[in-house]
Parts: sequence; structure tokens; C-alpha cells
Amino acid sequence: MTDYAQEIAETIAKTVGMEASQLKQYIEIPKDAKNGDYAFPCFRLAKELKKAPPIIAQELKEKIQLNTEWLEKVEIAGGYLNFYVATDSVTQEVLEEIEKNPQYGSSDRGKGKHIVIDYSAPNIAKPFHIGHLRSTVIGAALYKIYQYLGYEVTGINHLGDYGTQFGKLIEAYRRWGNEYDIDQNPIKELTKMYIRINQLCKEDETVLQACRDNFKKLEDKDAYCVNLWKKFREVSLQEFQKVYDLLGSQFDSWNGEAFYSDKMPEVIEILQKTGKLVESQGAEIIHLEEQGINTPCMIQKANGSTTYATRDLAAILYRARTYDFDKALYVTSYEQVLHFKQVFAVAKLLGLDEKYTNGLEHVPFGMVLLPTGKMSTREGNIVKLEDLLQEAITRAKAIIEEKNPDLPNKEEISKKVGIGAVIFNDLANSRVKDEVFDWNQILNFQGETGPYIQYTYVRTQSVLEKAGAKEIANKEVNPQLLRDDYSQKIVKQLYHFQETLVQVTEKNEPSILSRYLLELAKAFSVFYNENKIMAEEADLRNSRIYLTYAVGKVLHIGANLLGMEMPEKM
Ligand code: ARG
Repeated sequence: MTDYAQEIAETIAKTVGMEASQLKQYIEIPKDAKNGDYAFPCFRLAKELKKAPPIIAQELKEKIQLNTEWLEKVEIAGGYLNFYVATDSVTQEVLEEIEKNPQYGSSDRGKGKHIVIDYSAPNIAKPFHIGHLRSTVIGAALYKIYQYLGYEVTGINHLGDYGTQFGKLIEAYRRWGNEYDIDQNPIKELTKMYIRINQLCKEDETVLQACRDNFKKLEDKDAYCVNLWKKFREVSLQEFQKVYDLLGSQFDSWNGEAFYSDKMPEVIEILQKTGKLVESQGAEIIHLEEQGINTPCMIQKANGSTTYATRDLAAILYRARTYDFDKALYVTSYEQVLHFKQVFAVAKLLGLDEKYTNGLEHVPFGMVLLPTGKMSTREGNIVKLEDLLQEAITRAKAIIEEKNPDLPNKEEISKKVGIGAVIFNDLANSRVKDEVFDWNQILNFQGETGPYIQYTYVRTQSVLEKAGAKEIANKEVNPQLLRDDYSQKIVKQLYHFQETLVQVTEKNEPSILSRYLLELAKAFSVFYNENKIMAEEADLRNSRIYLTYAVGKVLHIGANLLGMEMPEKM
């Protein structure tokens, strides 16, 4: 498809003798269609050309060579130059492209580039909590979108399967193992043991020491400790898998923290050679004040055991060598901002090519709040994720049962709607914002929700079914019949699909796509209410049906990229 912004930038570039790529960045898309499809803010050139913006606008307008094939007119509005793209040519081009390209919006812009995404990463023997759900959902959406744009992507579930908490669990098991049935209800029982041993550690310093020693023994491959660790890991993974099955999550690698246990000595050795590793109360740390970080990074504890940070450093070395990544993203809650600042700062000392250290990026997200406040393990306010997802399905089913009792396959559809609602809710707003989890809101078919997107898609499909036109040929579209505002709002939105996906990857912000889909769905709802799709006149009817088909297709592709499944009926 024609990249109109690019064309405009090139036209202006020829006239003023500047780089088109730079000018393109200045081009804006006016909020109100009255001001054209693209606007060029002439004040951006004021310094360079030493003239006032309105004068620049006037001169540009006179001098630029317009390509009248697709450009209808150019107008001056204050210091802006507004470009109006010829409606019919956009309509024609967009609809043709959607018809012939099953992967509409995809591209090869990422060809030859490798993106590593570290996401989900729940902790063994602890509940898979709602923050991990958010990480899983955001990570998976980014994964799919990067891939759609031609990047090679590796998704890593960096499981929390190592660390002092295992020392504690081993100690608890040694003391009270026979009191708990961890095969039957692993996470619940292990959590109880964990709480109990923590209590004891608080009361008795020697128990805490025993726990730390257990972890050290685990690191030193003590058989008793290793076997227990294996067992805890295995039963926990079985539990997590239930959540992943419901969400449809997949990972290319399950290398968790323990995977790096034999890769940390190298990190420590490299850091020692830099002379920056210093001793502090028996521990080995690195001061980061020079890099603007006041808290030092702990590399090795006083008893010689390693830290979460050291494992992340070993992972960076490993991932750089194994995947030769261009970007490595880490999707976690913003509680870990300091951790990643420290780790990325220390990574600069590992002697890696700058390509890798520059490619490290933390993708933080906000908390999930219940209408009653923060969800937290410590306050006992735990929501078991599997239960939460099941409840979403049950609630979706109740709504469907009420709205459409005769629907076949209610089970399957309820699952798509319930899970889709939870997924969309995680992606609907800017990720750093805290999110309120409110059942009534996320399942509202008329709200800014996943079910609303699905419902709009289903509407497009029922129009097509009624029209008997599942496969419609673009040749029947007459763009002149789609000049009305309602149709044009849709056409323009469809045109911007690929650009939207690119923006998602530039900011690692899937909500840009969620908002896009909401806008598209809303535009379709208005079109549907205002324009009679099944018009008497065949040409008009066909054109409107085709536009409906195009909306359905893009909603489907977009929602799938977010990780939602689309029902055909609901
Ligand atoms: N397991 C950690 C947690 O639950 C998240 C791990 C994130 N990834 C990483 N490479 N540190 O908080």
C-alpha cells in the first residue's frame, strides 16, 4: 500500500532540501478529519529556514509538486499544511490489500532481527499470581506482534526455580514433610509450609541459618536437596500448566533461574577482573553510584550463595551468545524497576558487545487491584489464578445463556469469551497503569472490553452470513459509494493497521493495538446503525458488505495478535 506520510515527506523534502526520513517524523495525523489526513507542522522548519511558520506554509503550498493521483488537496491552517488524500484511491487500495493478503498488516521489517522476550516467570512452590498472569498476557501479545512484523522471536519462561526460598522449603520438608500432602495439592501445601517455616525463621535465627545453608548445599549439588528441589519444581509446573492451557500460552524455552547455576562462576570471574567487585560485610557487591544508582548490586552473599541478580547476569551472557539478540525484553511488574536498572548497569561490565547491552529493556507494568484493594500473597488475599480463569468462563457462560440460550457450542464459546475478557482487560490500558479487576466491567459486552471486540466481530460475520457472501470479490466494490463519513472512518482505521503494529513494537505497548481495535469496532457499530448494509441497490450493498468483511478480518487478526480467540457466534 502507498505510504502516504512517506510520499508527503518526500515531496516536502525535495522542495526544502532536507531528509525525508526526518520530515516524516514531524508529520501528524489530525484528530479531526476536517483538518485533512496528514498535517505538516511548519514550525518544525522555522529555525532551519529562518522564516515564520505561516510563511513557510504558504511557500510550501505554492512550490510542492502535487501528485494528484492520490492527493486531493493541500490547505493551510495557521502554521500547518494539511493534506487531504483522495478518498477513492485509499478505499480502493485498502480493500484490495485486505482481500489479497491473508496476513494483512504483516511485514518483513524485522527480518534478520532477533527479539528475546522474558515473560510469565512464576516462582516454583508459590502461587501463580495475577501479576504473573499480566506478564504472561503482555509478553505473549508482544511475541505475536513482533513475529507478525517479521522478527525472529524467542519466548523464555525464566522460572523462579532457585534461590533462598528453596533452602526454606527444604528445611520445612525436613521437619514436617509427612504432615503435608504435596502431591495432592502442591502449591497450597507448599505455601503453608513456606509460611510456617518463615514464622519459625523469625523466631529462631539458627533456623534461618539452616535454610540459607540448605540453599548453599543445593548449589553445591547435595543429593537430598537436589531431589527435593526437583520434586517441588515438577509438582509446581504441573499446576502452572493448567493456567497456561487455559490461556493457550507457549514458550520456546523453560530455562529458569536454576539453569544458570553452573554459569555464574564465569560472571563472578569476569566481574572480579574488572576490579569493581568489592567486599562488604562478607558479601560481594558492585557500587553503581557512578551510573546514577544509589543501591549497590549484590553479586554474592556472605555465605557464598548467589543472588537473583547474578542469575540474571548469567542469563544475559547466555542469551547474547545463544540468540545473538537485537533486543531482550523483560516483562515484569514495576516493582522490579530497580533490579533491572542494577542488572543492566552491571551487564555493561561483562565485556559484551554494546549491541547486546543497548538491547536490554525492562518492560514494566502496573499492579492489578481488586475493587477492594491490592491482591497480595502476604495479606492472604490470594486469588488462585486457575479459579479466576474458571470463574471468567462461568460468568461468560451465564451471560451467553441469558442472551442466546439456543447457541450451539456454548462451552467452547464461553471459554473464548471469558478468557478473552481477562486477556483484553490486561491489555486495554497503558501497561504501567495499575489496573482494577472488576468482573462487571471486564465482561460488559458494550464496554471497552474483549467481549465487545468479539461481539462486533460476530456481528460482521452474521452480516456476511445473511448476505450469503462469505467470500466476496473486491471487484464488486465501488469506492465512490463508500465516500460517506461512516465508511471513511472505517477505511482510514483499516489503513492504519500496520502502522499501529509498528507502534506497539516501538513502545512495547500492546494497548496501542487494543485501543485501535476498540476504535475500529466503534466505527463499525456506528456504520452498522447509520448505514443500511443490505441496501436495495446491488452496487451499494456489495460495497458495504465488502467493507464489513474487511472489518471482520482485521478485528480477527488483531484480536488473535493480542492472544484472544474469536468465536464465530455468541
Ligand atoms: N520470577 C520473578 C518474579 O516472579 C520474575 C522473573 C523475571 N525475569 C527475570 N529474568 N528476572 O518476580
